[in-house]
Amino acid sequence: MTRNTPQDNPAGIHQQLSSHQAQLASSPDQLASLFLKDHERASKLTFACGPLRIDLSKNLLDERALQLLISLAEEQELPARRQALLDGETVNTTERRAALHTALRGYRAANQPETGREVEQVLDQMQAFVEQVYSGQWRGSSGAKISDIVNIGIGGSDLGPAMVTAALRRQQNPSLKCHFVSNIDPAHLQACLATLDPASTLFIVASKSFSTLETLNNALFARQWLLAADADADVSRHFVAVSSNIKAATEFGIAASNIFPMWDWVGGRFSLWSAIGLPIALATSMATFRQLLSGAALMDQHFAETPLEQNIPVLMGLLTVWYRNYWNAGSHVVLPYAQDLAMLPGYLQQLDMESLGKSVDLAGNVLARQSGPVIWGSAGTNGQHSFHQLLHQGTQMIPADFIAVAQADNQASEQARTQHQYLLANCFSQSRALMCGKTQAQAEQELLNQGLPAAEAARLAPHKRVPGNRPSTTLVLEKLDAFSLGCLLAAYEHKVFVQSVIWNINAFDQWGVEIGKQLCTPLFEALQSGASSSELDASSAALVAYCRQQASGGVQD
Ligand code: F6P
Repeated sequence: MTRNTPQDNPAGIHQQLSSHQAQLASSPDQLASLFLKDHERASKLTFACGPLRIDLSKNLLDERALQLLISLAEEQELPARRQALLDGETVNTTERRAALHTALRGYRAANQPETGREVEQVLDQMQAFVEQVYSGQWRGSSGAKISDIVNIGIGGSDLGPAMVTAALRRQQNPSLKCHFVSNIDPAHLQACLATLDPASTLFIVASKSFSTLETLNNALFARQWLLAADADADVSRHFVAVSSNIKAATEFGIAASNIFPMWDWVGGRFSLWSAIGLPIALATSMATFRQLLSGAALMDQHFAETPLEQNIPVLMGLLTVWYRNYWNAGSHVVLPYAQDLAMLPGYLQQLDMESLGKSVDLAGNVLARQSGPVIWGSAGTNGQHSFHQLLHQGTQMIPADFIAVAQADNQASEQARTQHQYLLANCFSQSRALMCGKTQAQAEQELLNQGLPAAEAARLAPHKRVPGNRPSTTLVLEKLDAFSLGCLLAAYEHKVFVQSVIWNINAFDQWGVEIGKQLCTPLFEALQSGASSSELDASSAALVAYCRQQASGGVQD
């Protein structure tokens, strides 16, 4: 059989992908039948990198689709652009910066020879600090040993460290508890502080810019709380910072020696590998944090060196492009079947949607095709009793990532092991249900077998039909430890980059979030002073007036 390569066909790759999609979509061959046609399908489409195994075989993908997608990647010069990323070239063109998160886990960038040394210095600084806190050498200003760490940060300065700390729950040191506060709603910090003793609490103000409204206000609130309990408390014994804005952090009252530096080449949503990961190291250990980096480094190496057709992040990214642009899938669901990974979908929302929520290409031209899908999800099995209904029987196809952990906790009781097996069985049965579905005839037969009258079986059968043929990817970690998690997270980071290359967009800026920040100031002023600004539309002005009225006990101004 001669293989029809994309080059044989003079039509552009996009057109070829579109017509191939149309062919697959109208084919009577369902996804499940592809396994019958090719007994090797599961093994051919399963790949591994260290402790991470990824099974792509339950995707709407055949040899031709794969070839076309790889050709698309080549046409977009993915290998060269991957190298530019890793070498520290200015891939973030609107902010004129490199995006060197890979250097944080040891990849040596050709254009930034100094980064390795700087990264090691900060890791040493983190290590020394963690040791001081653990040993009790670092104490609160009244001499109390630190019992609680509160990380104050938002976006990338919160989501990554909070998610990883929760995921590594089993490795946590019980003598030091880490809390994460992000929201400007004072309820967030108040609820956290209510359980804490100021004398033994240490705050990490995590803000690359040290200018983020939420973080600065929460830090001020925390400082007031500390000083309200002890007016003589030494702020510098209770506050450290992670920032690239040393001046602003020092002005806040944080001793220069207690500021952990960052660099402009670390993007917020890629920063958990930097000193932004300090709470991870404090909650677990510096050794655990280094394992996280090593796991990510393994994926970096895989991404850098593996041929495109076996490269995990490349294939993950190309599949999302396939579904987004050719199958019109507007969203992508992430389903970790591990309660300790419950925060992963939220973390991936920032990573993916802040990176790929763009409408223009690198040259500023409006995109001809859709860019990033909506990312959402939650920990299984909970979703099965909620939104999975829409995944199985809703009108839209939503590609799913199932994430499972093969090994149960080695301390687990017999009952806990049984529950872990149920968890896995549920995970695998959901992807099978999405793929196999149930025909109306099968549904009707089941009802007849249950003894229902024929008319009733016929009436109910359409409601019980499950279309099937819905794609999913299953990622399995050997166990949930720092190394495996690092490997998984780096795979998602590179997947996002791959999509940005295909769409020719900048994955590393986030100008869209700025507009909300700009528009906040006049509204804040209107809420404070009541002065109506001519800039405000009637709806916003009325909302402000109503809230001011309510705040003053319902009495009109
Ligand atoms: O507002 C978006 C954002 O800029 C994110 O990209 C970033 O992770 C977050 O704010 C926090 O920024 P910073 O660390 O500078 O406070």
